[in-house]
Amino acid sequence: MKFKLAVLPGDGVGPDVMDEGIKVLEAVGKRFGHDFELTYGLIGGVAIASEGTALAEDTIEMCRSKDAVLFGAVGDPRYDDPMAKIHPEDGILAIRKSLGLFANLRPVKLFPQLVNSTPIKPELVRGTDFVFVRELTGGLYFGRPKRQWTTSRGRRGVDSMVYTEQEIARIAKVGFELARTRRKKLTSVDKANVLQSSRLWRQVTSEVARDYPDVKLDNMLVDTCSMRIIQNPTYFDVIVTENTFGDILTDEASILTGSMGMMPSASIAGIPAPGSRVIGLYEPIHGSAPKYTGQDKVNPIATVLSIAMMFRYSLALEKEALIIENAVNTVLNNGFRTYDIMSEGMKKVGTKEMGTLLAKTVAEINS
Ligand code: IPM
Ligand code: MG
Repeated sequence: MKFKLAVLPGDGVGPDVMDEGIKVLEAVGKRFGHDFELTYGLIGGVAIASEGTALAEDTIEMCRSKDAVLFGAVGDPRYDDPMAKIHPEDGILAIRKSLGLFANLRPVKLFPQLVNSTPIKPELVRGTDFVFVRELTGGLYFGRPKRQWTTSRGRRGVDSMVYTEQEIARIAKVGFELARTRRKKLTSVDKANVLQSSRLWRQVTSEVARDYPDVKLDNMLVDTCSMRIIQNPTYFDVIVTENTFGDILTDEASILTGSMGMMPSASIAGIPAPGSRVIGLYEPIHGSAPKYTGQDKVNPIATVLSIAMMFRYSLALEKEALIIENAVNTVLNNGFRTYDIMSEGMKKVGTKEMGTLLAKTVAEINS
């Protein structure tokens, strides 16, 4: 089959990990007879530097016309000034919003080979396998009013955590649908003891639950959840939560997988029905890590696993997704590690070698 993909490597280590992702993508193409037409675009700091905006309209249009978008990272210390009018991060927020990608799936799965690469006790972390469904186009990130101004008594800043019942219902459905394909347990995370938007979240989620009697719903406060994630990670199956809560909790949870470099993500407009495809954006959850740029150091596995998610959700090619996940497993079994997941007795490799090993494994392993 032939597919059209937009590729937005972005800033910092974004291009480093994207190059390796593309190696693996091409290996899958070769093995299964798929052809990928790649169109590169600018986003983040590199876009500000050359186009004066973190994401040009043309780039959004280009992405819209593709089967999926591959994204690296944004963030550039040159544009960190809080008073600046444009920030690299505006680019990723704009593309999520423009493409209507309201559901962000972030699997937190510990490969058993890495059980000693996390700072958490092995007996607690072993068996960790859950998925975040982070609401991605509403809440505190996008709610209005959102501004900073000066009053007679000094400066003020406001962000608004706003949700409509429709926004909550559609993300809750994604949570339930996903739970249905897994261990049938959904934890909805909010701050309903304090926030009005969370009280609505809790009501709407329980209303949606009536359509999913086979899934067990529990509600958890976000502060409790942040503790439970570390204390008892195997408690969770699917977690659905607000944009900002999801941002914070997913960074925390990445520690359970050994490294942020192991955490992929998919941003989609709902779970496609079996066999059908939806446009989505696929990105590692780690950021641009500017100090590691071009050093052949960072872990490309999160990007590679994101590409597996692309095969699953945007191309409806499950076998291809599984081959990639299998290849990651095999390369870890063979003892190869990037620095972030390195442990005694393992073979340390750089970004490029890890990418090459994964691509080679995709070409060779039995499906
Ligand atoms: C993430 C990142 C982004 C976010 C930043 C880069 C805007 O932290 O994808 O988690 O906050 O959503
Ligand atoms: Mg984040």
